[in-house]
Amino acid sequence: MATAEQIKSLIRSHFSSDPERFFTIALQVAAHEAGQGHGALAHDIRETIDKARRERGALVLKFPQDMRGLVLSEEPVTSMTALVIPTTLRIRVERIIHEYRQQQKLKTYGLTHRRKILLIGPPGTGKTMTAKVLAKELRLPMHIIQVDRLVTKFMGETSAKLRQIFDLIQKETGVYLFDEFDAIGGERSLENDVGEMRRVLNSFLQFIEQDISDSIIVAATNSPKLLDRALFRRFDDVLYYEQPTPEERKRLIQNVLAAFLTSKFTWKTVLAESEGLSHAEIDQACRDAIKQAILNNKQKVNISLLRQMLNERQRTHVGRQGR
Ligand SMILES: Nc1ncnc2c1ncn2[C@@H]1O[C@H](COP(=O)(O)OP(=O)(O)O)[C@@H](O)[C@H]1O
Ligand SMILES: [Mg+2]
Repeated sequence: MATAEQIKSLIRSHFSSDPERFFTIALQVAAHEAGQGHGALAHDIRETIDKARRERGALVLKFPQDMRGLVLSEEPVTSMTALVIPTTLRIRVERIIHEYRQQQKLKTYGLTHRRKILLIGPPGTGKTMTAKVLAKELRLPMHIIQVDRLVTKFMGETSAKLRQIFDLIQKETGVYLFDEFDAIGGERSLENDVGEMRRVLNSFLQFIEQDISDSIIVAATNSPKLLDRALFRRFDDVLYYEQPTPEERKRLIQNVLAAFLTSKFTWKTVLAESEGLSHAEIDQACRDAIKQAILNNKQKVNISLLRQMLNERQRTHVGRQGR
């Protein structure tokens, strides 16, 4: 049998969301079994690993070689419970999930589930996270297309690259997130390339419109100014993200600190200190505080530590610069 240590490592690596590490330990178990004379079992374990690896590899390999690094494929692990958003928004995210699950029923009435989604809102408010939650809830692979990098790298042939991506969207059902999608919008592109950007944007819109795949297509942007109404029409749903309200900040801090939270919190100060920060910044401050507590051999994050970390985030907060 596998040693207790191996079993513990297996479990740990499973939750560390590092599949390669998981595979390595599983192979160690196989080697261990082989050493004990359990050849058939060792063989079975190796077979299982090889099969899983081939399937995972296939997921990544389907993207053309030169797109590596521009498309990140991952197995989604983010669950809905971690996402702190207003109820109105949650209902809409849940509706996307519900309609996807009930798509056959809708189809019999000639209706399609909502699957082209536009997410708009400031950085760090949960747009990328929402796409990951969708993938996790729908048990679909997640592919993040880094639009800004795609545009910079394939200047002049971006449309051709987009076509390849949309071919894959058709062939391989998944959640496809066009992240920082406003890079196509134009503002960040060079002046003399505005014409090119227009063309790219138009072809992107066309691809979206023509798409009849089973995939979920999510586009996320920080700058709605760049997007014209023509674009909005192409999507089945447009969701707006905002900075967290005090209530949401409290929920977020409670979620992230979890077992490190003390009951002695004076929320008033903490909420004042976290005002103006995005979800991502608060999340980071909480993680910094947990790290510090662990290094100080403390079981809990005390309020002064959290305040200190929130203050640090306030000082580096992007929105504050130049104010
Ligand atoms: N609404 C949210 N609820 C909980 N955590 C969040 C939320 N928004 C952001 N975070 C945290 O910040 C990280 C980065 O957020 P992200 O989803 O990438 O923001 P965006 O895509 O809007 O810029 C997330 O992985 C998560 O840890
Ligand atoms: Mg994002």
